Amino acid sequence: MKKNLILCAVAGLALAACQPEEKKQEAWVSHAFDVALHQAKEMSSLMADSAGRMPRSLYTGYTMDFLVEQMECDSTVFIDSLLANPPKEKLGKLRACSIYDWTSGFFPGTLWYLYELTGNDTIRQEAVRYTNRLYPVRKMTNNHDIGFMMYCSYGNALRLSPNDTIKPVLVETADNLYARFNSRIGCIRSWDFGLWNYPVIIDNMMNLELLFAASKMTGDPKYSQAAVQHAKTTMKNHFRPDYTCWHVVSYNADGSVEKKQTHQGKNDGSSWSRGQGWAVYGYTLCYRETKDSIFLNQAVNVADMIMKRNTPADLVPYWDFDAPVKGDTPRDASAAAVIASAFFELSGYAPDGQKYFDYAERILKSLSSDAYLAEKGKNGHFILMHSTGSLPHGSEIDTPLNYADYYYLEALKRYSDLKK
Ligand code: GLY
Repeated sequence: MKKNLILCAVAGLALAACQPEEKKQEAWVSHAFDVALHQAKEMSSLMADSAGRMPRSLYTGYTMDFLVEQMECDSTVFIDSLLANPPKEKLGKLRACSIYDWTSGFFPGTLWYLYELTGNDTIRQEAVRYTNRLYPVRKMTNNHDIGFMMYCSYGNALRLSPNDTIKPVLVETADNLYARFNSRIGCIRSWDFGLWNYPVIIDNMMNLELLFAASKMTGDPKYSQAAVQHAKTTMKNHFRPDYTCWHVVSYNADGSVEKKQTHQGKNDGSSWSRGQGWAVYGYTLCYRETKDSIFLNQAVNVADMIMKRNTPADLVPYWDFDAPVKGDTPRDASAAAVIASAFFELSGYAPDGQKYFDYAERILKSLSSDAYLAEKGKNGHFILMHSTGSLPHGSEIDTPLNYADYYYLEALKRYSDLKK
């Protein structure tokens, strides 16, 4: 292992005072920790020899009839965007990804949360090992997702195991994210692919956390100033009067809007569930970092919209709030986990925060039930079942996703802290 890759070997000492919390927890929370620990340990040993790879999901397939029914469109819409069905022998098997995939930080982050929740030292060692795998990602420049990738992994490493070798990695990544900020447009560019002039997706709100952290680490306000400007521009252009949001807004060079579209939702005007989750999470974190009430108001308005528009009785959203509701309409447990985690944090800031806490607790109990929480040793070693990655691409429909697991554990952590 390279010298500068060594994360704090004494992280166990840093958390030595942190007792395992299971005994103090409600039974359903203890059960969730138990399952999560078991699954993550198995996943960790399964992936041990897969250098440069991370677990992402399980392969799923689709039929065109099903996609057409869910999208309420005709099949020609899919021609450019549809992924090929995986070969039969791959269905239900592990879909691993490269460290350069947007989801690569979530498995290390899951291990860090599990370490924080249980104090289990084996998990700490695994968290260090998988975080180190992402070291080359600090050089990546072609995507906004470096915020997700490095802050969920190295960011949690720094929080739980403060060590000066981690900071330069995060600052280098933040510099690459900051380089994607265009001050004329007032936003960070999300993607370098596609036909858009300057695409910005609502998901990008999540990457701002790295920029706020970089300002604190370096003392240079430029990162947080860019984050604030991005959040304000996004507030102006991404949201509809009812506080639902578009997925993609693309800009012209002068900052005017080129297009408002979807990429992973049902249609341009629909409310893609995970996107609504990214929005409430993003504005809640902006309020945490700035204490500017415009961000709190935005988070509250989006949260109230979600509570109106998320219709299933168990509060685990359909993949899109506007999807036709049929027996087989897929849920998105990842959106549920993101919303629950955001709502727990928001409950500490909003004047009537209790309602967000209660709502998030209901989501968490649903996700911790047999309907969504894996049986130990099943579900391909992932923790949650029933998420949807991108239905319009025919990709990852009704399957486990590594980011559902990450935000579920984060929500459990926030819940446990609030209950103390
Ligand atoms: N950030 C990509 C997604 O939410 O699917």
